[in-house]
Amino acid sequence: MSTFAAEPLFEQLVAIRRQLHAHPELSHEEFETTASIRGWLSEAGIRIADYPLRTGVVAEVGRGGPIVAIRADIDALPVQEETGLPFASRIPGKMHACGHDFHTAAVLGAALLLKQREAELKGTVRFLFQPAEEKAKGASQVIASGALEGVSAIFGLHNKPDLPVGTIGIKAGPLMAAADGFIVEVKGLGTHAAVPEAGIDPIVASAHIITALQSIVSRNVGALGGAVVSVTRLNSGTAWNVIADQAVFDGTLRTFDEKVRTKVRERFEQIVTGVGAALGAEATVRWLDGPPAVVNDPVWAEQSAATAKALGLQVVEPTPSPAGEDFSFYLRQVPGSFFFLGASGPQEWHHPAFDVDERALPIGASFFASLAVDALVRLSE
Ligand code: NI
Repeated sequence: MSTFAAEPLFEQLVAIRRQLHAHPELSHEEFETTASIRGWLSEAGIRIADYPLRTGVVAEVGRGGPIVAIRADIDALPVQEETGLPFASRIPGKMHACGHDFHTAAVLGAALLLKQREAELKGTVRFLFQPAEEKAKGASQVIASGALEGVSAIFGLHNKPDLPVGTIGIKAGPLMAAADGFIVEVKGLGTHAAVPEAGIDPIVASAHIITALQSIVSRNVGALGGAVVSVTRLNSGTAWNVIADQAVFDGTLRTFDEKVRTKVRERFEQIVTGVGAALGAEATVRWLDGPPAVVNDPVWAEQSAATAKALGLQVVEPTPSPAGEDFSFYLRQVPGSFFFLGASGPQEWHHPAFDVDERALPIGASFFASLAVDALVRLSE
């Protein structure tokens, strides 16, 4: 079991995190962020690997042997920051409101720690500074670039505001949800509001469909199945005295299991077309396929818990989050584990007053460095 002490890096990691925090960039636009990360890596003499990515960075410490990957996401959100912090976002309407600045700094810290002991490594640690997580597109781009090739195990983290600093949430199996979107179009027949019998009212049809959709979770998914069906927007009509000819509504499905995901989607389509048809309307579903559920490998989850305990961290089994996370695309190809690192945050993810307790930075850095060493030892045995 290997342990790294990252306390000497504390001030450096805080400075890195604050620099990123003040200059947030949205998905696919992380050009300055990419340049900064490259700069910090190069300064430390860490090798930058050449993969075709517009934004994002791949770097390596160690050579040959098995390869372990550690991933950080680097993008920010279109949120107007309201923290009042001295290092708050300098860019109006953009904010690191999900703490990806924290992830980047913690993983950079792990790279710095491992660089100091590069000669002892029993293989290679590949760092994936991934763009566009918030759009759930970045992981696929990294995979398409070839940066996952040769990787035997992959690890990643998300900060967790409701877990205290010094705590880490590790769990085998599902940790975060598959996050699919839908757009439903309900075609009716427009008419005068006073003569409804001459038309087909898409608003009444939509109302019935939306109500019936709520039966999926209550009647088709078991008590422990874990699913969410949320309709979040509904548009129709132009005037108080006109029955519209169509309505459109959209929203999201969240599931933790591929079988449940398939079943929920099937039932969703049946209800939309069936209830729509019963009311004379033609209703169709367009799917916006999101990332699958994050499902942790039991062996690597167990190894991670052992590493965390050796570092003196408090290991808890977290409640799975219904949020989506494109780390799941890596886990479909390579076994690994995703964690929730305690950050004692004042607000939930994506809130304009979101923040992290920076004392968690060296903890994240030493945890990943130690885990990489332990994983390489395990893979070399
Ligand atoms: Ni996030």
